[in-house]
Amino acid sequence: MTNTHIRISGESREWLDSTLEKLKVKMSAECARIGSSIPYIPVNGRYEDWGAKNIYWWTNGFWSGMLWQMYHATQDSQYREAAQQVEERLDEALHGFDGLDHDAGFLWLHTAVANYRLTGNPRSRTRGLHAANILAGRYNPAGKFIRAWNSDETTNRAGWMIVDCLMNIPLLHWASEETQDPRYRDIAINHADTVLRTTLRADGSSHHILILDPNDGTVLETPGGQGFAAGSSWSRGQAWALYGMALSHKHTEKNEYLDAAKRMAHYFIANTASTNDLPLADFRAPAEPVVYDTTAAACAACGLLEIAEAVGEHERSMYVDAAVRMLRAAEQKFANWEPEHDSILGGGTVAYFSDEREVPIIYGDYFFIEALLRLSGQSTHLW
Ligand code: GLY
Repeated sequence: MTNTHIRISGESREWLDSTLEKLKVKMSAECARIGSSIPYIPVNGRYEDWGAKNIYWWTNGFWSGMLWQMYHATQDSQYREAAQQVEERLDEALHGFDGLDHDAGFLWLHTAVANYRLTGNPRSRTRGLHAANILAGRYNPAGKFIRAWNSDETTNRAGWMIVDCLMNIPLLHWASEETQDPRYRDIAINHADTVLRTTLRADGSSHHILILDPNDGTVLETPGGQGFAAGSSWSRGQAWALYGMALSHKHTEKNEYLDAAKRMAHYFIANTASTNDLPLADFRAPAEPVVYDTTAAACAACGLLEIAEAVGEHERSMYVDAAVRMLRAAEQKFANWEPEHDSILGGGTVAYFSDEREVPIIYGDYFFIEALLRLSGQSTHLW
């Protein structure tokens, strides 16, 4: 599936064309070097195999997502072959089970489901459905939410829900479309409705973590999570909400999801206006230190382009223009196009209080590539 409505011209188009040329050179070199290794954050310009350290890690599908996007855009088989090997490596997690959590969507939408969508591989379909059942199994029907993470010796997380999970529920929509069984979709809709009611704030911002009473869904606490503090506004969480709601609209055509995505988008655009279109890691943190997060920019740009696909032609340009501004700002300040250097976009921040601030992170590159290919009409839908 390729987008059809978004077209850019003039100076933005020239920037896009030259960036796509650099992307093709860079990704071809990276694929030849990295292959079925599973990258996360490079050290001294080199990725290590994060999958060998933690096969369950939530980011382990993004490299495969980059490879499938590039395969779709170029038909170069090296991308498909490497992605298929990553998918097989993830079987250790799929069957190991214990380390899995709500991020089954991030892991298998960009591996097995992408493979099935693009090649029709029946083994990949089975993997995708298996992953969807794992995600559906985390649904709490009393509270109407998909629980986040797992409990450990110190914390019972039976009532935890996070805004990030909006990006996982497209796996459930896919499973319903694939099986013609509405159960998965109903879980996805109930979860999105709970997020709408409890997690998104009326001003267009979002909490990160909600702690609910697992017996009835009553909101108990809203801790700060990966942002600066409770009540602050972690920018990647805002981007998850923006794009996640736009995707829920894509799969259901429910206008309240699109309206929510637009509220989040307007808030996100307003909060990047005074920082040259580059999001800070948290929109409600002290003025110093200045910490950017380009992963939030790239994810938000994809969400803005998803909204642009959903609205009428006279409403579209505001969202496309904002996406282009954010992508250009991130590229100008933080991109490294040197083919021998692993990773493209620096400036990613894992969490506000993290040692990994303004570094390249694999999901920043995934969303950057998806956005560039969306703008050029060459992307494939992986959500
Ligand atoms: N989903 C975890 C994160 O955004 O860092």
